[in-house]
Amino acid sequence: MITLCHINDINDNHSKGFTLNERHFFAVKKYNAIHLYQNKCPHLGIQLEMVPDQFLDTSHSLIMCSMHGALFRIEDGLCISGPCLEQSLQAIPFTIENDFILVNETHLN
Ligand code: FES
Repeated sequence: MITLCHINDINDNHSKGFTLNERHFFAVKKYNAIHLYQNKCPHLGIQLEMVPDQFLDTSHSLIMCSMHGALFRIEDGLCISGPCLEQSLQAIPFTIENDFILVNETHLN
């Protein structure tokens, strides 16, 4: 298992990007729950953020792709607006132990 960060390293209603094994992904904390996704827009397969660690829209209620403005629900990654409507971000399984976010290496290959 790989330790990504402590859950308090991400403020509520904020996000944080990670790169491991040349794979890009990001976590969002909403209502103190963590959500983890591949950093890959279903539209063109590129990374979503333009500014490091900024994956949310201005209201901090949805994930936003900075390229063409697609909006995704934080809780399940479903696109609700934009060119990849009804497609989803790829969720990455994780566990939390002693308040650290852990991912299995096999999910990053
Ligand atoms: S690349 Fe994400 S909306 Fe176009």
